[in-house]
Amino acid sequence: MSEKILSVRDAIIERRSIKKFNGQSVDRGDLMAIIDDAVWAPNHGNREPWRLVVACGEELSTLHNLLRELAIPKWQELSSEDLAKQMTKFTLPGGYAFVIVPEDARQKERLEDYAAASIFIQNIQLLAWDKGIGSCWKTPGFLDNPKFREALKVQPGERVIAMLQVGYFDEAPKGKERKKSADIVTIFGE
Ligand SMILES: Cc1cc2nc3c(=O)[nH]c(=O)nc-3n(C[C@H](O)[C@H](O)[C@H](O)COP(=O)(O)O)c2cc1C
Repeated sequence: MSEKILSVRDAIIERRSIKKFNGQSVDRGDLMAIIDDAVWAPNHGNREPWRLVVACGEELSTLHNLLRELAIPKWQELSSEDLAKQMTKFTLPGGYAFVIVPEDARQKERLEDYAAASIFIQNIQLLAWDKGIGSCWKTPGFLDNPKFREALKVQPGERVIAMLQVGYFDEAPKGKERKKSADIVTIFGE
């Protein structure tokens, strides 16, 4: 667990997407506590347009089997060594949170809900970072696969917008340069 007390600024600029986890498990209580705080994301009309399917601990192995089926279609043809290697991107995270949003028939509300859920997700990422837990928001194609939706009991009118992998890591990657305000801001009227 991280000892350093992070300011909001520290958390925002120091957080990195973690793509190489070290296999250490994430405590379900820690993840639930993070989610309990992350729900304070702004959201229009207090619709709180999100729900999650979480896996950490025992249920991970069933999830790994599902991910293997969906992401590595020819897995049966691989040697156990190659398969294990290809599966590390799924087996090393210590937990998963799939974020599900309602798909409002009205475009404005749908966009608002996606925006609010995105803020909620970043809240999770920042709060996790504060606990020394890395994360990566991933959007693999199988999120819309009917088999996957069925396994997660995603209802018609809902969409999975994120596979959030969470876990511990040995090394954080360096951040890629970002544009400066001067590059992206136009002063009104100029
Ligand atoms: C909506 C969204 C989808 C993303 N999907 C993926 C993904 O499918 N695979 C992946 O490796 N990273 C994904 N990322 C993470 C980005 O690669 C990462 O945020 C970017 O490289 C910037 O790095 P940083 O988060 O460390 O600042 C996604 C991020 C966002 C916001």
